[in-house]
Amino acid sequence: MLAAPWTIRSLPDRSGIEILDQTRLPHEVVTVLLPNASAVAAGIRTMQVRGAPLIGVTAAWGIALALRDDPSDAALDQAAALLRAQRPTAVNLGWAIDRVVTAVRPLDVEQRADAAWNLAVAITAEDGATNEAIGRHGVALIEAAAARKPDGEPVHILTHCNAGVLACTAWGTATAPIYRAHAAGIAVHVWVDETRPRNQGAALTAWELGQAGIPHTVIVDNAGGHLMQRGLVDLCLVGADRVAGNGDVANKIGTYLKALAAHDTGVPFHVAMPTSTIDRTLADGTAIPIEARDPAEVLQVFGWHDHARIVVDVAPPGARAANPGFDVTPARLVTGFITERGRCAATRPALDTLLGETP
Ligand code: MRU
Repeated sequence: MLAAPWTIRSLPDRSGIEILDQTRLPHEVVTVLLPNASAVAAGIRTMQVRGAPLIGVTAAWGIALALRDDPSDAALDQAAALLRAQRPTAVNLGWAIDRVVTAVRPLDVEQRADAAWNLAVAITAEDGATNEAIGRHGVALIEAAAARKPDGEPVHILTHCNAGVLACTAWGTATAPIYRAHAAGIAVHVWVDETRPRNQGAALTAWELGQAGIPHTVIVDNAGGHLMQRGLVDLCLVGADRVAGNGDVANKIGTYLKALAAHDTGVPFHVAMPTSTIDRTLADGTAIPIEARDPAEVLQVFGWHDHARIVVDVAPPGARAANPGFDVTPARLVTGFITERGRCAATRPALDTLLGETP
């Protein structure tokens, strides 16, 4: 059913991890061996692996590889700092690093490599199970939308960026309810925002939906509002890189504009994420660090021609560009969250209840 057989896997002889190189998709399906922590850090930085849950899982493997090579406190701290520095917005990165560091630091040095390896195995497996549960909880929204449609009319879902299998180990977050609905025989059609500047929608989401046989249409990022005005979107379903304690959502740049259009047109706007994406140390979204990416990504477009990656200029020589990678959608524009623990409103009390503990 799912697009790629795997996005990340460890090698049994512990010589490294293999990843699907997402910078080459959809034109080439290439795997890359990351033999050590610094290669893992580079893979995260260059976005060979990307998507909030997957960079967390990958970072856990990075710590495991670092401890395989040197289980000392100094090596642990150095690897954690290196990996954490690669991308600032997705809290899952720090969440996974902290989880492994906290588990192994109290251990004798000779126990650390095995413990970190086993925990990386567990974190990888948990991601798949978590997303499967997000699918189970979220599919009801698509079922309800289908019940309101004339017979045979698909439910039209708009998504932004790639919150799919490729952003995780399995199922995806925003795509998990879609895959589940499709498997249950519900007719779905996905509007795929291209997601400039790196085109994760056009390149990655369209590829994985195509692999899964799910009808979809790629649109330019500015088309969503128009489609919503015309009644051509039944619901928006996006992922998240960090959710503040009050329900404000950081996700790929452009998400906020989709949420505004959805609010204006009365289209439900749902955010699917594992609870590890919730950062209750932040009172609201204003404190979420926003990744500033290379302006060249705006001034140029990359693609494939004659089996080779090419880059073309789209702006005049010397033009200035700004490239914020993420934006923050205020909680008031979010209809609800879909997590592995169930669905809830985008409010602080609802998130606190969902998490079942006081911060
Ligand atoms: O810059 P990226 O490609 O890592 O951004 C990914 C997104 O914004 C996703 O929507 C988000 O990480 C959720 S992935 C389940």
